[in-house]
This record gives sequence, structure tokens and C-alpha cells, in this order.
Amino acid sequence: MSETTLLQSETVSQSLFSLAAVSLAMDSTALIGSQPKLTSVKALAEAPGLSSLPSSHTFPIHPNDEQLPVSDTNESIPTVDFSLLTSSNPDERSKMIQELGNACQDWGFFMVTNHGVPESLMNEMIEACRQFFELTEEEKAEYEGKHVLDPIRSGTSFNASVDKVLYWRDYLKIFQHPEFHSPSKPPAFREIAMEYSKRVRQVAKELIRGISQSLGLEDHYIEKAVNLEKSLQIMIANLYPPCPQPELAMGLPTHSDHGLVTLLIQNGIGGLQVQHNGKWVNVHPIPNSFLANIGDHVEILGNGKYKSVLHRAVVNNRDVRISIALSNGPALDSAIAPASKFLGDGRTPPAYRAMKYKEYVELQQSNKLDGKSCLERIRNTRI
Ligand code: OGA
Ligand code: NI
Repeated sequence: MSETTLLQSETVSQSLFSLAAVSLAMDSTALIGSQPKLTSVKALAEAPGLSSLPSSHTFPIHPNDEQLPVSDTNESIPTVDFSLLTSSNPDERSKMIQELGNACQDWGFFMVTNHGVPESLMNEMIEACRQFFELTEEEKAEYEGKHVLDPIRSGTSFNASVDKVLYWRDYLKIFQHPEFHSPSKPPAFREIAMEYSKRVRQVAKELIRGISQSLGLEDHYIEKAVNLEKSLQIMIANLYPPCPQPELAMGLPTHSDHGLVTLLIQNGIGGLQVQHNGKWVNVHPIPNSFLANIGDHVEILGNGKYKSVLHRAVVNNRDVRISIALSNGPALDSAIAPASKFLGDGRTPPAYRAMKYKEYVELQQSNKLDGKSCLERIRNTRI
């Protein structure tokens, strides 16, 4: 289906939905009330006597099409020492930029150590998210959100209106920059989240400068091209409760992230898998590090030199897993295209069409989460 048809059919179904809701009752509370409420997986997992996976969450044997083997080669996952990347010693810095470039080229994924964000703040952030998920279903429903660009959205699965089988995951998504938003409960959330988002943005900015330089661009090139001063930063908190039949369920399906750089932390429980050389690699992070991956917009800016990495989250039957991803992207109203350096003075056609980040995010968030299908839509096929 073409992009336009899809957007049109969405608009049509949205207006049909509102017509139906309006005919049910003539006020907006009915509009909210008429949407079917989905049970959180937290509530499902805690229901007494749950011994098998509900059919709503059961995948036909293999959740993903690509039947890749899973491996545990943790030792080869690249590490970026942030203190060297930001070192005043030019040799140390250029060596680390080289390593960052290799990590982006070979993996699209790396761990960041010595980043200066206090471990206590990281733990407090995880705790605050745990407390959010422990609010009552009614309290969480206040933050349900109606549109994918609403600044706070809480829910289950990825996009429950299009997911045929639901994912074993509850989420909270918050826009934290250029405007900072926060739920008002739990009480400590706002202050911790504000500090955490600021500190992570600082780390992301330095990584983006390093990535820019490693691509052979001026270190501020990406920053300027994406208007980083107004960058969209989204916190995505994920809750994966213990699952009675983890092999039949999926936490988050295979996808790439839409932004520039995502920085993820977790509560010490594994589940993230990264695709590398035709295998799924289980990630066991170094304590007190960030798991970083490059998103579609680094792939676009570099005209495909670095590829955004495919990853997914699997679930387990023992432990509650919480992960918090901070997506750091361009400004919503900036249109991003491959850097001219890669187009050889107009001799090489751009591999991707320019698109406003706002449209890109909307497209990714309002469809099924499906590998790199969003990036495919803007790939130039004429070359
Ligand atoms: C995400 C994501 C992975 C995880 O939120 O985009 O990829 O480990 N999460 O929860
Ligand atoms: Ni992701």
C-alpha cells in the first residue's frame, strides 16, 4: 500500500470511529469511554492461576519470520569509553572516534562506559518507572493518549489497534525535549526524570558529535543539520512481566529506532537481542553502562554508510524486566536528507528521500512495528 493510501485509510477509519462515538453520545468523555480498554500485561501476569499464555498474546510458533540462530558473544560487543571520547587529549579523542566509527559500521550498537551519569540516578529512574507501572489501571489510563504524537502515552503492546497478536509489554512514552513532560504520579517521577533526561541528552550530544566526525563530517554537522537544540527526546519505559510461556510470546518485535541515538538501561535482567552477522546476539551489559544504538536518521544522514541496527526484546518466565530507552532524534520540524558530502557534488544520487522527522515518527508509530519498513518507504529505488 502506498504511503498516501495508508494515511488516507487511517483518516477514514479515524473519522468513522469518531462518527460512531459521536452518535453514541454527544460529548468527548464518551469518545474516551467508547474505546475498548486493553488489560495491561502486568495485570494479566498477576492474575491468580495464570499458567498458560492467553491466545491474544500467542504467536504461531515463531514470532519472527527470520529464523536466525541466537548466540552469546557478549565479549565482542564494542565498548565506547565516553571519558576518552570527550578527552582534552586529541590523540585519545581521535582514537575513540575511530572506535566509535567502527562500532557504528560493524554493529550499529555499543556499550558506553565512564559516561558520568551517576549510577544512583540511573537506579532511581528505574525505580520511578517501576512505581509508575504499579499505579492502578485507572491511574495509568489517565495517560493513555489518543494520538501517537501526544506527549505522554501509557499502554500495552506496541500499537494495540494494529497488532494482531499483542506483545508481552506495557509501556510509558514521554516527550522530554524540547518541552519536558511528566506524569504527576508517582510524586518523585518528575524531578528524577528531568535530571535523567538532561544528563542523557548531554551524553547523546557528545556521541552525535563523535559519530559526525567519524563519518568524515565536521563534528557539529549533524547537530546543525537536525537542529539538535530543539531535538525530540522521548523516554520509552518498558515493563516485561514474567511470562508463563516465553517461547510463544514476544516483548518487542524486530525493529530499528527512528531517531539518531538511543541510550538504554535496564534493571539487571536481560532480554535485549541485537542482530549481527545473521545472528541474534543476547546482550549482557557491563554494569553501570548505557546500551547505545544508532537509529534510522544516522543511516539517512550518512547516506547508508552506517546502518541502523535491528533489535528486539524477548521475555522470560522468572523475572520482571524493566528497560528505559531514551530516543534522541532530530527536531520534529526539520527535514533530514543525506549529507551532501556523500553525494559527490551531485554525482551520487541520495539513497533516501528527505522527510520531516515529525512525519517519520508518525509513520513509524501509527503502523505495525516491522523491521526497517519505515526506512524502506523513503529509500530511493531509482539508484
Ligand atoms: C525500544 C527497545 C528494547 C528493550 O524501546 O525501542 O528497543 O530491551 N527496547 O526493552
Ligand atoms: Ni528499540
